Amino acid sequence: HTFRSMTLLSETAAHPAAVERVPTTRRYLMCEPKYFTVEYVINPWMDPDQPVDTAKAVEQWTALKETYERLGHKVETIEPEPGLPDMVFSANSGTVVDGRVLGSRFRAPQRAAEADHFRRWFLDNGYRDVVMPERINEAEGDFAWTGEVLLAGTGFRTDPGAHAEAQETLGVPVVSLHLVDPRYYHLDVALFVLSEAHDGRRAEIAYYPAAFSEGTQRVLARLFPDAVICTEEDAACLGINAVSDGRNVVLPVEATRLAAVLTARGYEPVMVDISELRKSGGGPKCCTMELRG
Ligand code: ARG
Repeated sequence: HTFRSMTLLSETAAHPAAVERVPTTRRYLMCEPKYFTVEYVINPWMDPDQPVDTAKAVEQWTALKETYERLGHKVETIEPEPGLPDMVFSANSGTVVDGRVLGSRFRAPQRAAEADHFRRWFLDNGYRDVVMPERINEAEGDFAWTGEVLLAGTGFRTDPGAHAEAQETLGVPVVSLHLVDPRYYHLDVALFVLSEAHDGRRAEIAYYPAAFSEGTQRVLARLFPDAVICTEEDAACLGINAVSDGRNVVLPVEATRLAAVLTARGYEPVMVDISELRKSGGGPKCCTMELRG
């Protein structure tokens, strides 16, 4: 008996693919890139001299939206505003946990006006508990919910003071993580949640260690000893800017190495082309705000 249960245990450890990955239905908020351009530079990916094809961006965005719908998720949309070319990156405009909303406050003046459009969307769509932050807070760009704690990035955009505000407003424990590589200026281009904590199992994440300070790397290794460790290759195509429903992982088509690792762990990679949006430093996750509860 003892021998049999030990065999089972070690098989599970050696073949994590044996773990059944169960998707859960999600609700997302997206914004069509109708006015998408790259006309200012607020991260190293942006180059106003490189031409942007807005129609192609809309096509890629539409394919992303249809991918979510095909996977059974519900996608809400917010009306894009002329003069706000980065509004497509809806993940930066709110953090929603259990129906509570913490709005955003952008670092770059060029994006500042986006926050109020989203605040109004929340109010018009039945959210009662909407708080706007005092400190610079780029929402899910720097916040990742694991089901237990809110992982919170800082270093380039979100002010560390916003982490304490998020903890107080949302009523969830926050773990601060320090980003150090300007190419990976938001947490969501360096780390993502593969499956939230559930049924006594801990959350599973994927991250690129070199994007974080040494102290933060030790924190992540301590909290997530079984994490998928990403490489420079995964990060450089914004492959880590992925969206998982616990089983299906939507990620950029170039991220083939990461996709193979995820398959070996029992996940189902779903590849999308986001080449136009990457010219602004964004990928699938940046275009996707999750509405939780
Ligand atoms: N151009 C945008 C910016 O630099 C891209 C934002 C990408 N969003 C994200 N969640 N990482 O603000």
